[in-house]
Amino acid sequence: MALPVSSFRISLFFLMHIHYHSLFASAGAVYNIVSFGAKADAQTDSSNALQSAWSAACAASAPATVYVPSGTFLVEKANFSRPCTNTNITIQIDGTLLAPSSYTQGQAWLLFYQVGGVSILGGTIDGQGASLWSCKRSNVSNCPDGARSLDISNSHDIEISGLTSVNSELFHMAIDSSRNVRVQGVKISAPGDSPNTDGIHVHQSSGVTILESDIGTGDDCISVGPGVSDLYIEQITCGPGHGISIGSLGWMTLEPGVSNVTVNRTVFTNTTNGLRIKTWARSSDGFVKGVVFENATMQNVRNPILISQNYCPHNLNCPGQTSGVQISDVAYREIQGSSATPVAVQFDCSPTVPCRGIELQNINLAYGGGPAQATCQNAAGNITGFVIPPSCLS
Ligand SMILES: *[C@@H]1O[C@H](CO)[C@@H](O)[C@H](O)[C@H]1NC(C)=O
Ligand SMILES: *[C@@H]1O[C@H](CO)[C@@H](O)[C@H](O)[C@H]1NC(C)=O
Ligand SMILES: *[C@@H]1O[C@H](CO)[C@@H](O)[C@H](O)[C@H]1NC(C)=O
Ligand SMILES: *[C@@H]1O[C@H](CO)[C@@H](O)[C@H](O)[C@H]1NC(C)=O
Ligand SMILES: *[C@@H]1O[C@H](CO)[C@@H](O)[C@H](O)[C@H]1NC(C)=O
Ligand SMILES: *[C@@H]1O[C@H](CO)[C@@H](O)[C@H](O)[C@H]1NC(C)=O
Ligand SMILES: *[C@@H]1O[C@H](CO)[C@@H](O)[C@H](O)[C@H]1NC(C)=O
Ligand SMILES: *[C@@H]1O[C@H](CO)[C@@H](O)[C@H](O)[C@H]1NC(C)=O
Repeated sequence: MALPVSSFRISLFFLMHIHYHSLFASAGAVYNIVSFGAKADAQTDSSNALQSAWSAACAASAPATVYVPSGTFLVEKANFSRPCTNTNITIQIDGTLLAPSSYTQGQAWLLFYQVGGVSILGGTIDGQGASLWSCKRSNVSNCPDGARSLDISNSHDIEISGLTSVNSELFHMAIDSSRNVRVQGVKISAPGDSPNTDGIHVHQSSGVTILESDIGTGDDCISVGPGVSDLYIEQITCGPGHGISIGSLGWMTLEPGVSNVTVNRTVFTNTTNGLRIKTWARSSDGFVKGVVFENATMQNVRNPILISQNYCPHNLNCPGQTSGVQISDVAYREIQGSSATPVAVQFDCSPTVPCRGIELQNINLAYGGGPAQATCQNAAGNITGFVIPPSCLS
């Protein structure tokens, strides 16, 4: 082990404070947050202990682990950030990180900012969003926006695996201005009526992969914002929630586009939407190009396949306008199941930049109360195989 003597001693010291775990057979120092003063009593703020363990791992010259043992640790807020010269840090969580039950101030509860080479493994994070949701549901107009539970921002080469995230105030997880982020085997849950609790929001990032995850929330299971490219999503269950959505896009005039997105092997249960692309009815030079939606099962989904480009809630900030977001080369393949409304397939595209290159292959969507329908405005493309309800693409 090529560690300086001092950090070797530190790692042995902290190893004595934890149960031996196969993970630690690998080289590197282990920084147990309890050794830095964290208390598993769900009421003593362990933010400083977590922050100190992180700083120690960042300063280590070899792979290092921040260890959160079992038990519930209250964390008011954490900012995992620079200076961090170590590019191989594991945060192994066996217990639960608990947010304060009052509102969290600022954009994120647990923020990873400008870091590279970090793995977050296991554990539960509980955003305790209920008090903010009830504020938003009541008619008080001055509720805070709320904080994202886990925010990966301006970072690269991040892995999040086996994490459970419950009851966030706002998005459970956001990946923003980052590249090469892999999310695998996560469980995300919040009540179906909790406002703005998106599962995973991806924004302005490339090379994001989301695999084998179960998501049920009060908003989108996964939402994709402007400037996302090379996104791969596979094996997701979604529900309750608003489905998987590319959008809303096109709010800004100068906006980066979304390209090369694959959404594969998904199951939607009782969601409002299935596979959706949504843009504001505003002028914009944004675009969506090169999307594959493959192998989805819809169970009682209100809008299984949906493109809506006329989003203008309350007719504010966009009346009389059309969307400038060009949508092209979007394939829907092997999609079956049941729609909860008669219109199972809806392409409501922009009159100024019609959708082109829509491909439908082997679609079979039924509506319980009668035949399902497809509706199209300004949408052109091709079909192959069987397509039920019959295509209306021009
Ligand atoms: C990080 O360190 C671990 C333990 O030494 C090692 O197994 C792993 O390959 C390293 N990862 C990278 C990306 O270097
Ligand atoms: C997080 O810490 C970094 C480095 O100290 C700082 O630049 C950044 O502003 C902090 N972010 C927040 C939201 O506190
Ligand atoms: C909120 O305000 C709306 C419109 O003013 C009203 O219809 C509704 O009953 C109010 N809801 C509550 C929970 O007070
Ligand atoms: C599209 O994204 C995938 C990752 O999902 C990547 O492997 C592939 O190289 C990208 N294709 C292009 C043409 O960039
Ligand atoms: C979908 O997943 C299956 C199984 O992993 C794989 O064979 C197939 O190539 C994937 N489809 C796309 C479009 O990536
Ligand atoms: C769709 O995915 C399921 C598993 O998620 C698999 O059993 C099935 O073979 C796939 N169907 C196609 C047509 O790829
Ligand atoms: C979906 O909705 C149906 C009908 O309301 C209900 O019977 C079923 O339990 C729901 N499924 C899930 C997984 O919530
Ligand atoms: C239909 O597909 C062919 C070849 O795949 C393509 O050249 C043509 O532009 C497509 N038509 C539409 C309306 O997208």
